[in-house]
Amino acid sequence: MPEKSVKVEREAQLAVVSINRPDQHNAINAALLQGLLTIFSRLKEDETVHGILLTGAGQSFCAGADIHEMRQMSVGEAAVFAESGQRLMFAIERLGKPVLAAINGHALGGGLELALACDFIVAARSASFAAPEVQLGIIPGFGGTQRLSRLVGKAKAKELIFTGDRISASEAYQIGLVNRLYDDHELQSSSLELLRQICSRGLVSLRLAKEIIDAGYDIDLATACFMERDAFALCFTTEDQKEGMGAFVEKRKPQFKGR
Ligand code: COA
Repeated sequence: MPEKSVKVEREAQLAVVSINRPDQHNAINAALLQGLLTIFSRLKEDETVHGILLTGAGQSFCAGADIHEMRQMSVGEAAVFAESGQRLMFAIERLGKPVLAAINGHALGGGLELALACDFIVAARSASFAAPEVQLGIIPGFGGTQRLSRLVGKAKAKELIFTGDRISASEAYQIGLVNRLYDDHELQSSSLELLRQICSRGLVSLRLAKEIIDAGYDIDLATACFMERDAFALCFTTEDQKEGMGAFVEKRKPQFKGR
C-alpha cells in the first residue's frame, strides 16, 4: 500500500496528514509521493473534511526527496519524478480547502517545497528550513524555484537556493516564509486550533478566496480583479452569505453550512 508512509487522522472536521517515514526523516520516495497524491485526492472529495493540517511523524517534517532512490534515477525517471512532485503541489493548491503546513524539525528540499504549496506555514521554534539541492548537484524540482521566490522574493530565494544553507525557524519567520511560531510542545494543538478557527468561517468563501488569491497571483491585476468581482458576486448565491450577514444583524454567531 503506497499510503502506508502517510498517516491520516481525523479531528472532527479536520484531517491531520502525517508524512510517516520517520527513520528516514520522512524523505519522499516514489511510494510516498504516490501515497500523498492518493490521500490528497481523497480528502478533496470528502465533504466531511473542511481543512487539512500537514505535518511529519517523528523528528522531521520532511528531509526532501529520497536521495538513495534519486541517486539511481535515469534522466527520464528524474523528469517523471519531478512531474509527479509538481502534480502533488498543484493538487494541494487546487484542493479547495485550507491546507496548513505545521513544521516540526527539518523541512529540507522537497519538504520545503511541500510546505510552500500549502496555504501558509506555521512552525515549531526548533524547526529548520533549507533548499540544499545544489549541494547534491541538482536544483529544486517540485516547484521550489518558483514558489520560494514568489513567497520571499527573488533575491532571498536565490540566496537560499545558491547556498543551500539551513535557516532557523525565527529566520524563516523574519523573511516571511513562516507565518507563526509555536513552542515545540504546542505545535500540533495550536496549529489545529488555528485551522479550526479558520474552518469555522464560510467554507465557500474560503474556497473562493483560496482560488482567487492563487489564480490571481500570476496574472495581471486587472484580470485578477475581474475574477475577484465574479467570485464576490457568486458568494451572493450561497446560504453562507445570507447566514453570515443575517447573524451580524441579529447579533449572533453565524452557523455556516458550506453551501
Ligand atoms: N533521503 C534519503 N534518506 C535520508 C534523507 C533523504 N533526503 N534524509 C535523511 N535520510 C536518512 C539517512 O540516510 C539515514 O538513514 P540510515 O540510518 O539508513 O543511514 C537516516 O535518514 C537518518 O539520517 P542522519 O543523516 O543519520 O540523521 P541526522 O539527524 O544526522 O541528520 C538530516 C538529519 C535530515 C539533517 C540529514 O539526514 C540530511 O541532511 N538529509 C538530507 C537532506 C537533503 O539534502 N535533502 C534534499 C534532498 S533533494
